[in-house]
Amino acid sequence: GAASKGNYRHFMLKEIHEQPAVIAQTLEGRLSERGVLVKSFGVEAEALFSKAKQIHIIACGTSYHAGMVARYWLERYAGIPTQVEVASEYRYRRVVVPEDTLFVTLSQSGETADTLAALRFAKDSGYLGSLAICNVPGSSLVRESDLTLMTHAGPEIGVASTKAFTTQLTALMLFTLALGRQRGMDDDQQGQIVAALRGLPALVTRVLALDPEIEQLSVDFAEKHHALFLGRGAHFPIALEGALKLKEISYIHAEAYPAGELKHGPLALVDSEMPVISVAPNDELLDKLKSNLQEVRARGGELYVFADEQVAIDAGEGIKVLHLPHVHEALAPILYTLPLQLLSYHVAVLKGTDVDQPRNLAKSVTVE
Ligand code: G6P
Repeated sequence: GAASKGNYRHFMLKEIHEQPAVIAQTLEGRLSERGVLVKSFGVEAEALFSKAKQIHIIACGTSYHAGMVARYWLERYAGIPTQVEVASEYRYRRVVVPEDTLFVTLSQSGETADTLAALRFAKDSGYLGSLAICNVPGSSLVRESDLTLMTHAGPEIGVASTKAFTTQLTALMLFTLALGRQRGMDDDQQGQIVAALRGLPALVTRVLALDPEIEQLSVDFAEKHHALFLGRGAHFPIALEGALKLKEISYIHAEAYPAGELKHGPLALVDSEMPVISVAPNDELLDKLKSNLQEVRARGGELYVFADEQVAIDAGEGIKVLHLPHVHEALAPILYTLPLQLLSYHVAVLKGTDVDQPRNLAKSVTVE
C-alpha cells in the first residue's frame, strides 16, 4: 500500500529508524556460517567473480559515496584493484578498460539517467560483465545488468537517502566478502566480519537510541552557515555523505575533507563560527585523526566528535564527544553514518525546512 509516516513526523526519520530491519533484510538468506552465498548475485556470479581482475564502480549522489567506501573495502579485504567514478563524468570521457574488469553500478532507484547511460556505454566497452546493486526490482538498471544484488530497503520516500545508503553498504560488504573468498581472504577474518554483520542490526538499534543526545548537539548548528566534516580512510566518504545530508536538507554549506588534507586549505576557514564534525572509530588511523583534531582546536574551531566507546577522547572546552558502541572496524562506516543522518535531520527540523522534499532536489534524476 501507499507509504505512510506512521508515528513519525517525517519520512526521513521513519526511514532512519527502519535501518536495523532493512539491514537485516539485506543480509537475509545471503550468509553461510562463515561466508557469503555467491549465488545471491545470480547464477553467473561464481564464474564472473572468479575471472574479475579489477572493478569499476559507477554511481551518482549518495550511491557514489557508497561506492567510495567499497573501494577501501575491496582493495583492503579482497585485494582487487577498484576505481569509483560519478556517472556523469564517466560517460563523457575516454575510459581505458583493462582486461577482465567487472562493471558495477549502484543506485537506489535504478533509473538515474547518467548511471543508466554509463551502463549502456559500458556494454560496448569490453567489460567482463555488469553487476547492479539496486533497491528497485524491475528497474531499468536491474533489467539491463548481467548480475544483480537487491538491497532490501523498501520504498524510500525522503529525498535525502538514508536507509538506501546503509543497505547499499551492507550489500557492498557482501560483494567484498564474495570476491575476497575467491582471492584468498583469510578465513578467520572472513568469519569475523560475517559474525559482525549478523550483529549489525542490534548495534544500529543502539546507535539510534542516542537520538536525544544528537538532537541536543543539533542546537549548536541551527545558526551556523558553514560546517566541515572530517574523516580518514573509509570514513572520508562517510564524512562526504554527512556533509551532503546537511546541505540537502538544512541548506547549510558543508564540506568534507580527508582529515590529512586539512593543512592544505580548509584549516584557513576554521574559526568558532565553523563547527567541525569528525568520525573517530577505533581504527589504525585514530592517532593521526586525533592530531588533526588538535590542529582544529588550536585555531579555535568547535569540535564534534563521534568516537568509539573504547577511544580516549575527552569532552572539554570546545569539544563535544559522543561515544558509539564498539563495532568491527570493517563495519564502522555503516554505524558512523547514523549519527550524521540524525544530526542533519534535527538541524533541518530546527531550521524549519521541508525535510522530505528539499527545495530544488528530486528523489530520482531521470533526465540529464
Ligand atoms: C538524487 C537523489 C539522491 C540519490 C541520487 C542517485 O540526487 O536525491 O538521494 O543519491 O539521485 O540516485 P540513485 O537512485 O541512482 O541512487
